[in-house]
Amino acid sequence: MSKAPPHRPRSRKLPLPLPPIPPKLLPPPPPPGTQRGRPHTPLEHAAEGGKSAVDWVDERTSLSGAARWLMFRKVPKGTNWFYTLGSATMFAFLSQAVTGVFLAMYYRPDAAGGAYESIRYISTSVFLGNFVRGMHRWGATVMVVLVFLHMARTFVFGAYKYPRELNWVIGVVLLILTMVMGFTGYLLPFDERSYWATIVGVNINGTGPIIGPYLSDFLRGGPEFNATTLPRFYAIHMLVVPGLIAALIGAHLYLVTKLGTTAPPWLKAKVDTPELVEEAV
Ligand code: HEM
Repeated sequence: MSKAPPHRPRSRKLPLPLPPIPPKLLPPPPPPGTQRGRPHTPLEHAAEGGKSAVDWVDERTSLSGAARWLMFRKVPKGTNWFYTLGSATMFAFLSQAVTGVFLAMYYRPDAAGGAYESIRYISTSVFLGNFVRGMHRWGATVMVVLVFLHMARTFVFGAYKYPRELNWVIGVVLLILTMVMGFTGYLLPFDERSYWATIVGVNINGTGPIIGPYLSDFLRGGPEFNATTLPRFYAIHMLVVPGLIAALIGAHLYLVTKLGTTAPPWLKAKVDTPELVEEAV
């Protein structure tokens, strides 16, 4: 006689507990002899004012729930320094955005000599100009190196697999956009080297199948390099691509928060829910 299959409980969604508030953020107990909520010193008054301002905003927006969801997440055992490469890339991008804003205050995308002159002025006359320009130049290299290291980490740890394929695809677009930033930024100093290197780069783009010639025409603003090429590169470099990168980083982080990060491949997950273990028939 065949044995009846063992009864299996129907799968149900387990309510996950809210991530705990770290003890450091919990209010300390009131000192003996004082009443909670009554500030005494000017510092306590200032702290109380800050708290009520945050409460006022939170009551109207409920943003604290979103902040807790984003920041106080469970991370898998074995999480290590390699997991910081994504955040490091993000900080490199933020640093590029901040230094770029300062450079944009002085830069002129004028192909008739103004661009070269404005860069010379930034490097020689503006207070900390050379320093900020150096940060932006080296920051670009740092961001490219970090984005590749971060991609290597997610590849080696198998983080591209189900259910994170979409985050991998967003990552690939972010990688391409990071390279576009480097390419469009290289022309901006408008010296001999940047001019000829960009001509080579645009010509290489033109050799791509089907869209190649259209792409190089679009980048040049016509069949030849002309006065609109530099402003076009500048607009792509400081408006279009950073906007796209910022939006895609938002989507990337949303998915990281929603799906959690992948455990290192050398750690096997412990099963502590026996009802979910496949029984041998
Ligand atoms: C501007 C570029 C990028 C930024 C700012 C960025 C940022 C981040 C951050 C902060 C995380 C979470 C922490 C971590 O695992 O490091 C993450 C995770 C992830 N990123 Fe990126 N990323 C970028 C580019 C890329 C690229 C190029 C790829 C791959 C092609 C990629 C694929 C992934 C994947 C699959 C995860 C999930 C990792 C996991 O589940 O363990 N990202 N990213």
